Amino acid sequence: MNDAWPIAIARGWHPVAYEKELRPGRPLGVRLMGTPIALFRTGAGPAALIDRCPHRNVPLSGGKVCGDALACPYHGWVFDASGRCLAVPGARDETGARATCVAVTRRHGLIWANLADEPLPFPDLPAEIADPALDGFWRPLAPRMARPLDALENHLDPMHPHFLHRHLVRGADSEVIARTIPI
Ligand code: FES
Repeated sequence: MNDAWPIAIARGWHPVAYEKELRPGRPLGVRLMGTPIALFRTGAGPAALIDRCPHRNVPLSGGKVCGDALACPYHGWVFDASGRCLAVPGARDETGARATCVAVTRRHGLIWANLADEPLPFPDLPAEIADPALDGFWRPLAPRMARPLDALENHLDPMHPHFLHRHLVRGADSEVIARTIPI
């Protein structure tokens, strides 16, 4: 789906929303690597479709959740979590239309999406991420222009937040034992 990206990114899993943002009955429009995605809840967990209706390209995220399916806001075509069209109001559905399904999963309070036709397995995350005794926060960042290596280096630099982002994490005047988490 995304040939322009390195394979680990193109076939990898990316957080696209907090789980709490996805309310019952309300789809949520997000973007991943420029691709619009409509998230919605089903009885089996989160589901996602490319946020464009196969009928007239209208964003499905503007529609409404009907049971375990998503109805387009324009003509009301209804798509299930696999993208199959379940209903066309006012007509017998013989269109064979399909919305494009996106792989999603929920882990650690986040919803993760994968745009690949053959997603990589979800990676084992360090157990410490789920340890309530440890500090933890997820912070969505505003888009920035940066080279990937610079961005990675910044995220892997654990000591700058005490000084630069004092409002987010503990300040320079409180210290904890530093520990490396094996990945
Ligand atoms: S544009 Fe979605 S049903 Fe017509």
